[in-house]
Amino acid sequence: MSNKDNQDHFETQAIRTQIERTQFLEHSSPLYLSSSFVFEDAEDMRASFAEEKQRNIYSRFSNPNTSEFVEKICQMEGAEDGYAFATGMAAIYSTLAALLNSGDHIVSARSVFGSTHTLFTKYFPKWNITTSYFDVDEVDKIESLITKDTKVLFAESPTNPAVDVLDLDRLGQIAKKHNLLLIIDNCFATPYLQNPIKFGADLVIHSATKLIDGQGRVLGGVTVGNAELIKDIYLFSRNTGPSLSAFNAWILSKSLETLAVRLDRHCENALKVAEYLESHDKVNWVRYPFLKSHPQYEIAKKQMKAGGNVVAFEIKGGIEQGRQFIDAIKMCSLSANLGDTRTIVTHPASTTHSKLTEKDRLSVSITDGLVRVSVGLEHVEDVINDLKHALG
Ligand SMILES: Cc1ncc(COP(=O)(O)O)c(C=O)c1O
Repeated sequence: MSNKDNQDHFETQAIRTQIERTQFLEHSSPLYLSSSFVFEDAEDMRASFAEEKQRNIYSRFSNPNTSEFVEKICQMEGAEDGYAFATGMAAIYSTLAALLNSGDHIVSARSVFGSTHTLFTKYFPKWNITTSYFDVDEVDKIESLITKDTKVLFAESPTNPAVDVLDLDRLGQIAKKHNLLLIIDNCFATPYLQNPIKFGADLVIHSATKLIDGQGRVLGGVTVGNAELIKDIYLFSRNTGPSLSAFNAWILSKSLETLAVRLDRHCENALKVAEYLESHDKVNWVRYPFLKSHPQYEIAKKQMKAGGNVVAFEIKGGIEQGRQFIDAIKMCSLSANLGDTRTIVTHPASTTHSKLTEKDRLSVSITDGLVRVSVGLEHVEDVINDLKHALG
């Protein structure tokens, strides 16, 4: 990597960290669409496979574009090393599968992304890896869930879709005291707003599909953190094949160049939307980390630079009113993604979480009238007008 000297500001590193220039002296990093890389001779080949040399061998192991992307995320998160995956779920699955053995136990926040929850409840038990859950407002109960087999403390903050905030400092202290690996899904905050390693996380995972791409184009994931752990994750992944494609890495690395400016505007817009909704008489409550009314506002202020782009709110009424609201939306998109330039509105109780019982939904803060808005980069007045119209 080049251009690293004296450039320690987030924005500068995001732009100036680049793979070495080729003989063509290109300004912007080229795309290396090459499945494999050639060796000088037999000795070079032997030494490369023996890992005596750090170099690209095969793009399932590494590729210049994925290395550039990973290097930038490491700098942003203050991590020693990392590995890039095809999706956020590939990152979560491969990270845990690489580090856990049969008989190991996970303690996880109950509010985790749906597929992560499915991994913990449906697939890991097949390999005798079990999980116990704590509610976001029950951090004090975590210690009572830890057993001699517990290896990992897992959480995301802010959570999807209810935008709850967990105290990362507190999680870091508990993990340290009990010698657990603290793994944080930092997808909603991005490395620009929150750096869990500062609070004691051993590994940080991102779905790069969301705000890191930011334009709804490609899927990607990344895990960064402690170099020894990453080595195990790398070896597992280079043999099982969940790697990020060079093309997607190239897109995502370019996206990181604008992450700071995009996030500044996303957060500014989201706060305005949250304030507007809070003043609306058809809204019961609004959840946004940087609203004073958020139950974990003080914690959010302590660990995040700004509140992110997701606002959750509860429409008065319930499921039917939620559905009517969604049907009345004109400009915003009805889509399962988030973290796009386009504002996206979803109603979890009638869609993503409709198969859960009401009791199970409530245990992860999803009430019948809950609406999740991923606030985009359109003019905020247009976003607010669309929500105003739909609230009728
Ligand atoms: C918090 C969180 N983690 C992980 C994922 C999974 O990411 P991907 O869709 O890139 O596999 C998502 C996707 O929505 C998410 O919101």
